[in-house]
Amino acid sequence: MAIEIKEISKSFPQNEQEEDLSILNNISLHIEDREFVSLVGPSGCGKSTLLRILAGLLKPDSGQILVDGRAITRPESSRCMVFQDYVLFPWMTVSSNIALGLQVRKKDKEYVHKKVQWAIELVGLNGFEKAYPHQLSGGMKQRVSIARALVMNPEILLMDEPFGALDSFTRMKLQDELVRLCGKKEFTTVFITHDCDEAVYLSDRVVVFSGSPAEVKEILPVDLPRPRNRTSPEFIALRNQILKVSVSAAE
Ligand SMILES: Nc1ncnc2c1ncn2[C@@H]1O[C@H](COP(=O)(O)OP(=O)(O)OP(=O)(O)O)[C@@H](O)[C@H]1O
Ligand SMILES: [Mg+2]
Repeated sequence: MAIEIKEISKSFPQNEQEEDLSILNNISLHIEDREFVSLVGPSGCGKSTLLRILAGLLKPDSGQILVDGRAITRPESSRCMVFQDYVLFPWMTVSSNIALGLQVRKKDKEYVHKKVQWAIELVGLNGFEKAYPHQLSGGMKQRVSIARALVMNPEILLMDEPFGALDSFTRMKLQDELVRLCGKKEFTTVFITHDCDEAVYLSDRVVVFSGSPAEVKEILPVDLPRPRNRTSPEFIALRNQILKVSVSAAE
């Protein structure tokens, strides 16, 4: 589904005496149907705030977001969020954690079982269906979070630094899995990262925000064939360019 972010502004109250602090200032951005767009920018600039507005978890002060022409007013199962901290229920098995959203939607048992098994295979967690979160590594927990989003058949996948807490080897492995999943072009992805290498590896376009309040500083298309070669001169040049723009956006 295409996403039209139209002149979104958001402020948050500070201490009682002070004026509200402007976090997002008139942000507009068009995201194509099934596009993969990364958002990068200085810490605290408002990326997660924008993603929460996209999810329908937070209301903007002004502006609106249209999904295939329809305004977002609340969270919907067609838009799924994957967070940096895995937010799994520790007393539930891998299967139960993944199944939860479907059960809330009152899907029948047979459907839930098939769908959960499908997602478990997709993210490579076969054999861990009955494991509990404390028995999993960080990468495996994040796979559960991704599977939990995928079973809902999202039209839009919203990911907030999903691999931020992982070691670089696990991170690269999950990046490859995400490239494979997104290669099927079944959903639109909005992905927040601090990692320029990750942004170039995954994205169709990278949007760089400047901070306080956040504005779109630059939009860089990544016209490289997938799977991308991190050591190619084109890749490195683009990564360095994004890094340069990000550094100047943070100043
Ligand atoms: N509910 C809230 N109430 C008040 N201030 C908030 C609230 N949520 C976020 N903020 C403030 O808004 C600003 C942007 O926060 P946000 O989490 O969107 O940043 P971010 O770009 O995601 O940062 P990071 O890269 O560190 O995750 C911060 O200054 C934060 O303190
Ligand atoms: Mg954030």
